[in-house]
Amino acid sequence: MNASIVDSTVRHHSLRALVLALSLVLPALPALADSMTERGKALVEFNCARCHAIGKTDKSSHPDAPAFRTLSKRYPLTDLEEALAEGISTGHPDMPEWVASPEQIDAIIAYIASVQQP
Ligand code: HEC
Repeated sequence: MNASIVDSTVRHHSLRALVLALSLVLPALPALADSMTERGKALVEFNCARCHAIGKTDKSSHPDAPAFRTLSKRYPLTDLEEALAEGISTGHPDMPEWVASPEQIDAIIAYIASVQQP
């Protein structure tokens, strides 16, 4: 009969199985702290990098946006954690409101901490 429907159903299921397998394996990986930092990096690449410098040497593309590696010079990173939890809006007129989940916030803070200048 209609083979394409069967095909896409099968593909759909194997994708689900893959995602399920990954979600079971990933938390068990060693070096959890590193994977948290990696996750934070992915989050800031997606949400913040179009304005802020997020690495150790890059330049912010938005002229007013501070490089993330300098943030701890302005205030303790725990303050940033609070700001993220409330949804950063102060100082972000151009930025769409984004309220991060606690897991995302932990990851972002771990990443930002990892690029701070000494
Ligand atoms: C659309 C551009 C844009 C995006 C996207 C953006 N920012 Fe900003 N951000 C800015 C600008 C511009 C400033 C400086 C605002 C000012 O000083 O008035 C800023 C300032 C900041 C500050 C310093 C605030 C202060 O009071 O010193 C932090 C912390 C910050 N951003 C974090 C983030 C994080 C985390 C993300 C991603 C989740 C992000 N920003 C995404 C443009 C952006």
